[in-house]
Amino acid sequence: MEEIRLQKFMAECGIASRRKCEEMIINGLVRVNEKKVTELGTKVNPDKDIVEVNGKKIGAEKKVYLLLNKPVGYVTTVSDEKDRPTVMKLLKNVKEKVVPVGRLDMYTSGLLLFSNDGEFIYKVTHPKHETTKTYIVKTRGVPTEKDLEHLRNGVKIENYITSPAKVELLLKDNTNNIARIWIQIHEGRNRQVRKMCEAIGLSVIALKREGVGNLTCEGLEKGEYRYLTEQEIKEIMEY
Ligand code: URA
Repeated sequence: MEEIRLQKFMAECGIASRRKCEEMIINGLVRVNEKKVTELGTKVNPDKDIVEVNGKKIGAEKKVYLLLNKPVGYVTTVSDEKDRPTVMKLLKNVKEKVVPVGRLDMYTSGLLLFSNDGEFIYKVTHPKHETTKTYIVKTRGVPTEKDLEHLRNGVKIENYITSPAKVELLLKDNTNNIARIWIQIHEGRNRQVRKMCEAIGLSVIALKREGVGNLTCEGLEKGEYRYLTEQEIKEIMEY
């Protein structure tokens, strides 16, 4: 790992804000490799140097990557001001300070990732990296082939046009006026799939995220989570 400023490293370890960490350095509370450091320009290598604050060794949290099969009825947030059940409540026994990677609406189910690795979060959520997100949506209303083509090519939502998407009709039930559609996008705008469906006159009955990149919820009951494998993390980072 590259050398970084001591106060930045301390802040990344969750000690305090960078400004507060600078004060701690100036006040002589910080030691690097057993030597007191009061210089703000000091750089450290997080992999090699031993940093102590108030006599206690600090270090970055272990990086963790989780995959949850989210049930409907949970809000994707770390804490909810309305006191609704949050997805964090489903992560029992996770000590690290993970956050949801992107979000699923309260009434969307399926694959939701969590991590404390900023680079990983950026990779999954930034449209530039094109990590695919795959959804199955059950709609009231049956789309025509022209509607599906419209979804594929991009529809206008508020003030933007959605990027090209892969779209397949899985089921059409004209008698009950219901359809099931497979949609794969690489953006993640707020309520994007719902808005895409609404843009072609369909209302969403149920929405499930089936996959992110090559990951799926296979083998997980609703509300269950698992850790990603080394290989799965590597595939996302190299995607
Ligand atoms: N698109 C939506 O409309 N909702 C989600 O939760 C995810 C994608």
